[in-house]
Amino acid sequence: MKTRYFTIGSDRDEAQIEEAAAILRRGGLLAIPTETVYGLGANGLDEDAVRRIFEAKGRPQDNPLILHIPSADWLARYCEDVPETAYRLAAAFWPGPLTMILRRKPCVPLRTTGGLDTVGMRCPDHAVTRAIIARAGVPVAAPSANVSGRPSCTTAAHVRADMDGKIDGVVDGGGCAVGVESTIIDLSCTPPRLLRPGGLPLERLEAVLGEVALDKAVTQSLSDGEKPRAPGMKYRHYAPRAPVTVVTGTSAESARWLRAHVPDGAGLILFDECAPLFPDCVVRRIGSYRDKAAQARCVFDALRSFDDTDVAEIYAQCPDDAGLGLAVGNRLKKAAGFRTADACDGCRVVGFTGCTGAGKTTLLRAFAARGALIFDCDAYYYELLRTDEALRRDIDAAFPGVLRGGTLDRALLGRLVFGDRERLAALDAVVRRHLPRAVVRAIADSGAALVGVDAIKLFESGLSAICDTTVAVTAPEGVRVRRIMARDGITAQAALARVRAQKPQEAFVAACDLHFDNNFASRDEADAAARDFIGSII
Ligand code: TXA
Ligand code: MG
Repeated sequence: MKTRYFTIGSDRDEAQIEEAAAILRRGGLLAIPTETVYGLGANGLDEDAVRRIFEAKGRPQDNPLILHIPSADWLARYCEDVPETAYRLAAAFWPGPLTMILRRKPCVPLRTTGGLDTVGMRCPDHAVTRAIIARAGVPVAAPSANVSGRPSCTTAAHVRADMDGKIDGVVDGGGCAVGVESTIIDLSCTPPRLLRPGGLPLERLEAVLGEVALDKAVTQSLSDGEKPRAPGMKYRHYAPRAPVTVVTGTSAESARWLRAHVPDGAGLILFDECAPLFPDCVVRRIGSYRDKAAQARCVFDALRSFDDTDVAEIYAQCPDDAGLGLAVGNRLKKAAGFRTADACDGCRVVGFTGCTGAGKTTLLRAFAARGALIFDCDAYYYELLRTDEALRRDIDAAFPGVLRGGTLDRALLGRLVFGDRERLAALDAVVRRHLPRAVVRAIADSGAALVGVDAIKLFESGLSAICDTTVAVTAPEGVRVRRIMARDGITAQAALARVRAQKPQEAFVAACDLHFDNNFASRDEADAAARDFIGSII
């Protein structure tokens, strides 16, 4: 079969919408964009059309399909005794990523509902798709458009990869805005039960419904013979070819765990902040650890993309359960067959950074006084340059000549990278490859529960990603100049030149979670302020 590809600009593109709707009316298969994932649609009242959906996907017959409708006005056509709550939810969240399970009317074939007396109903937030359904005049049964078991499709290219030649048409609606499937709420029982977390966060449902029960299949793998309420939740799903392990814990905890455990060449699904920490792995970023909407948009593409690589194993960082995190984590865990590693190490790592002369030492002293183990990363780096063969080899390869007769010429290396962006980047890359691993190993070996990481290049080195909290320390230029003169016994001019050669202090403040401005009249005042600051963060 030759698959037709439609690009329909808006819901006013009448001729194209009619052509797409005609495919549905005559019993054909049409992939449709929605805000969640692409669906593989057919007339949900036409048993033959529905049978073809199951065939094209290779989907088990007992796994029911969701009916897509253009508005809540259509609910009563296909559902018996629609409860008032359904209309309330529709008013609050439709069109949008919510599927409601309601009692089915006899006009909805059992083939569509996998033999169940209930049917899933959803009104997608995609104007073109709603226009096509309205024009077709039939409810559209649409599972996700992936081949059964594969990650869902969030672009038309994903659909092409799975369905080209097997279906009549694909409507290209661009990338899906939400990226994970709809949240499924069962309203045929009391209290309402969450069957699948999805694009509408549980908290928002609870705000309308009050109590919501959580189906076991949402968070756990079911044992043999156990039946989930959503039949689809029992199947292996979303899985790339290589086995997946989901690493739970905070972003910093999982970053430390991964840096300590994964071999070079592994496939990694990472928050953006952690990507620089793994230059020797095959990394897919899914957005900032703070940005769950980005994670939802990216997670399926990330899972899919490993099938074009030869990675032998995949590890994924996992968001917490709040908001969209529940859905993102659920998809990752399902892709992993619920194989997880708990990265919680009971250790709190705080990174301190700032320009020379800013007065980091004051804070570090206060932190050490609370029992923290302090890593001076510059000193540690120079020690590694003397002792770590792999690091020395990489430095020698990147900067031939700096390693002479076994000793590193630090002054020469300094001159080489000073003011030369490219060389500086090359040095940072070498440091990133070696320093964080060594620091993570040393932290683990120390058994310390509280660790301070002191590094001017906290971010460039990748070390920021293993820190639970980052602190920028600043001080006015004049104060820094005086401190450097006193510390290093140099002239004001030389100290000023050094201050001006560094990156602006605002960059540190912008990059860090917290800010300590070390600008006090006396040493005692500074110490007291540092003690208070440290007290407030631990
Ligand atoms: O966002 C979505 O919901 C996407 C887009 C295309 O709308 N569709 C989607 O469909 O994810 P599908 O078939 O891949 O997943 C539907 C899930 C399955 O786990 C199925 O078992 C469950 O919903 N389901 C459907 N009807 C049900 C019913 N009557 N009772 C319980 N679970 C049901
Ligand atoms: Mg699916």
